[in-house]
Amino acid sequence: MSIALILLAAGKGTRMESDRPKVLHPLAQAPLLWHALRAGQTLDPAACVVVAGHGAEEVSAATLEFAPEAQVVIQSEQLGTAHAVAQARDALKDFGGDALVLYGDTPFISDTTLQTMIAARATHDVVVLGFEAADPGRYGRLVTQGDDLLEIVEYKDATEAQRAISLCNSGVLIAASDTLFALVEAVGNDNASGEYYLTDVVALARARGLSAGVVRCDEAETLGINSRAELRAAEGVFQTRARAALLDDGVLMTAPETVHLAWDTVIGRDAEVEPYVVFGPGVTVETGARIRAFSHLEGCHVSRGAVVGPYARLRPGAELAEDVHVGNFVEVKNAYLAEGVKANHLTYLGDADVGERTNIGAGTITCNYDGVFKHRTTIGRDAFIGSDTMLVAPVSVGDGAMTGSGSVITEDVPAGALGLGRTRQVTKPGFATRLRDMLRAKKAAQGKE
Ligand code: UD1
Ligand code: CA
Repeated sequence: MSIALILLAAGKGTRMESDRPKVLHPLAQAPLLWHALRAGQTLDPAACVVVAGHGAEEVSAATLEFAPEAQVVIQSEQLGTAHAVAQARDALKDFGGDALVLYGDTPFISDTTLQTMIAARATHDVVVLGFEAADPGRYGRLVTQGDDLLEIVEYKDATEAQRAISLCNSGVLIAASDTLFALVEAVGNDNASGEYYLTDVVALARARGLSAGVVRCDEAETLGINSRAELRAAEGVFQTRARAALLDDGVLMTAPETVHLAWDTVIGRDAEVEPYVVFGPGVTVETGARIRAFSHLEGCHVSRGAVVGPYARLRPGAELAEDVHVGNFVEVKNAYLAEGVKANHLTYLGDADVGERTNIGAGTITCNYDGVFKHRTTIGRDAFIGSDTMLVAPVSVGDGAMTGSGSVITEDVPAGALGLGRTRQVTKPGFATRLRDMLRAKKAAQGKE
């Protein structure tokens, strides 16, 4: 059976107290919405429809950045979850499979739970994801009889007896697409909120002789985010899980609680991550690499056997081949460092290509920006860049070439050559002694005044 996703993301998120739409607040450095989308994408859906409303333009842009094939439909007035689902009808009019409804503000639904729901469709026309809540609060309650789900009652509309039920509605549900749209069409808004409740589709389905069932998941999976405090708590949950997953995968971390991961961080088996490392989005660290303490990585690739840090910064486009060493206070951006390159101290390599085994001396800087344009620096293999070399791009240094310490290199240095760009040293014998004597005498004279 093919699957279409309908992701609800039109709500304002009033309790976030923010001008930014709720689903665009970052969790593990990705918009909240991407997390639910990612779980949905594991089902290899035939279609993906995101229902946007508040901040639709930004929500649309963020959706398409993650899922370019998605369709964004607009719910201009938020009249309720059933009304939101109805907005997806046109986008799915030629679709004959099952529609799965997800919420943009519920980031932790697992792909295995979604698979279980799909499997449960074999026995029920409508399958709802529920959970036993420690504190059922204001969640909708699932009224069941044996394996059957009879109805979902919203907290506001529930009787005292129904409020005592601890099995709650996550909001996620799946049904045949045409069935779902037919049911949603029949939903009215005669309830405590005056909203079109998606939850009403269960009772409506049963009234039509269809069956409804429940799949249960852990409460942690259905954690929804409504406030900054909940977002903060969700971040903690994400980090704890992601660290545990990396440990399970064979990553060495002595203080995992100090390591901050992004939603898409990939770290290979037997790689080591020392304390206080921060990963931005888009990082891959291969097996056996070592990321030393206090480093910050973003949009980069670190190959086997490479060593980064302590106190290194890898920015987008930093590509480190095998056995590269990037040491303390070294920043690399949009640069390829070939196998065995060493840049161990106090260096900026931006918009650069550096060949195999080349050594970059302390304090080297690629001067890549003229205030308007960025320029590239190309350094060959087995080269030796003397300490404190300024490479004024565009410039190249050939294979096996050297630059003298303190040089400002403004012209290409051919292979095998030495590039020197500094003033000659002048040595004045005895000058230092005489100068010091003079200064001390002056100080002594001042003391007597
Ligand atoms: C909903 C369920 C409730 C469940 C709870 C789980 C209904 C009627 N109630 O309640 O049973 O326990 O989720 O968290 O469905 N949205 C739109 N357009 C709208 C209304 C909502 O896109 O017109 C989106 C929101 O942005 C949000 C999601 O749907 O992502 C849920 O809406 P929300 O208002 O938070 O529903 P709850 O009252 O929490
Ligand atoms: Ca909610």
